[in-house]
This record gives sequence, structure tokens and C-alpha cells, in this order.
Amino acid sequence: MKKKPDYYNDLDNVYLKIWSLLKHGLEDRNAPFHIPVFICGQNNTFDGRIVVLRGIDKEKNKIWFHTDVRSNKIKILKENPKSTFIFYDKSEKIQLRISTLSKVNFQNSFTSNSWKNTSHMSRQCYLGEEAPGKISSIPSSGLTEKIDNSKYTLEESEIGYKNFCVVENFISSFEWLYLAAKGHRRAKFEVQASGKIKSFWKIP
Ligand SMILES: Cc1cc2nc3c(=O)[nH]c(=O)nc-3n(C[C@H](O)[C@H](O)[C@H](O)COP(=O)(O)O)c2cc1C
Repeated sequence: MKKKPDYYNDLDNVYLKIWSLLKHGLEDRNAPFHIPVFICGQNNTFDGRIVVLRGIDKEKNKIWFHTDVRSNKIKILKENPKSTFIFYDKSEKIQLRISTLSKVNFQNSFTSNSWKNTSHMSRQCYLGEEAPGKISSIPSSGLTEKIDNSKYTLEESEIGYKNFCVVENFISSFEWLYLAAKGHRRAKFEVQASGKIKSFWKIP
């Protein structure tokens, strides 16, 4: 019989496991937690999309990702900063929902530091003339053939900074679900104003 993990009946260990999965997701591009679904919305319309986890800060309870400032999600976040991330690791059988308040960083020290560390290849996403989501009369990547073929220098890629932003997401709560044949476990962790974490179990 499979041994129960140390977080099965222990909230403190669940919390440690959450941050260990996020760290792994940040560091390993093949980890399931590397590409969460990010959901935001306004009025009655909500939408989700995959993003790449680009940063985590356990002490400050925040996680962040990069995007194009012209993208639709930025327009939405400016109207309504409430957002949610969904992560799922199939082999761990763990679902994590994180409720956040999003802040759009643009042309500040946060974005300039992140941009410096953005690889030549990743900068390609920010080199299109037209905004992502714009209707196109032809099938198109939105990039020139030269850029499509990665034929640009790091110096030439600097122009992409004008489209680059970092969405910083301040965590208000975590909702954890662990699937187990011998009984699922569900837990909630709320970040209080003091920064302390209030944790409790829920019925799955
Ligand atoms: C594996 C994968 C990773 C992605 N990573 C990002 C990302 O880090 N940032 C981003 O803005 N879009 C990313 N996208 C594209 C988004 O899912 C989405 O199509 C795009 O951001 C436009 O969304 P919007 O119109 O809702 O703004 C990724 C898509 C996939 C499939």
C-alpha cells in the first residue's frame, strides 16, 4: 500500500508543500506548476489563459508572470484587479487555486530587472508591431519573417521592452485539494493583514 504523504493530515506541511511545488514550477520548465491558468474578468465575463510562472516570493506572498502590455488581460486587470490562478499536478494529484490581487508593472524597476533577465528567445513575444488579439486578414504570427526565424540580435530585441510588463499578483488565499483513494483532503490558507497565515481544513 502507498504510504500517506507527510502533508496528508498536517496543515503546516501542506503549506510547505504548496511553496515547494511553486518553487519547482518556477525552476523546472517541465513541471506542471510552470504553466498555471490565470483567470480574470470584468462585469459578467471571465476568461482564463495559460501563463508561465516567472517569479515567487513566499515572504511577501506574491507570484508573477510576464505579458504584453497591449494584451486583453491587461485591459481587464485595469478595470478589475481581482484574479485567480489554477495549478494542477497530475502525478502529485494536487490542485491549487490561488486568489490574488494583480498589479501591472510597466516601465519601472521591476520590469527593467525582469527584462534584463528575459532571454533572447523569450523576447520574441514582444517584437510584434500589432497588439496580440488584433484581428488579422491573413494567418500570421504577427512577427516579420526575420524575427520568426530568430534572426535578431539581443540589441535589436531591446525594442520589445516598450510592450513588456510584469503582472505581480498579491496572494489573498490558497485553496488546496489533494486527491487520494483513501480519502481526499482539502484545505484553505488565508493571508491575513498582518501577513500571518490562517489555515483550516475543508470537506473536499
Ligand atoms: C504554454 C503556454 C505558455 C504561455 N505563457 C504566456 C505568458 O507567460 N504570458 C502571456 O501573456 N501569455 C502566455 N501564453 C499565451 C496566453 O495563454 C494567451 O493566449 C495570451 O496571453 C493572450 O491572452 P489574452 O488575450 O487573454 O490577454 C502562453 C500560452 C501557452 C500555451
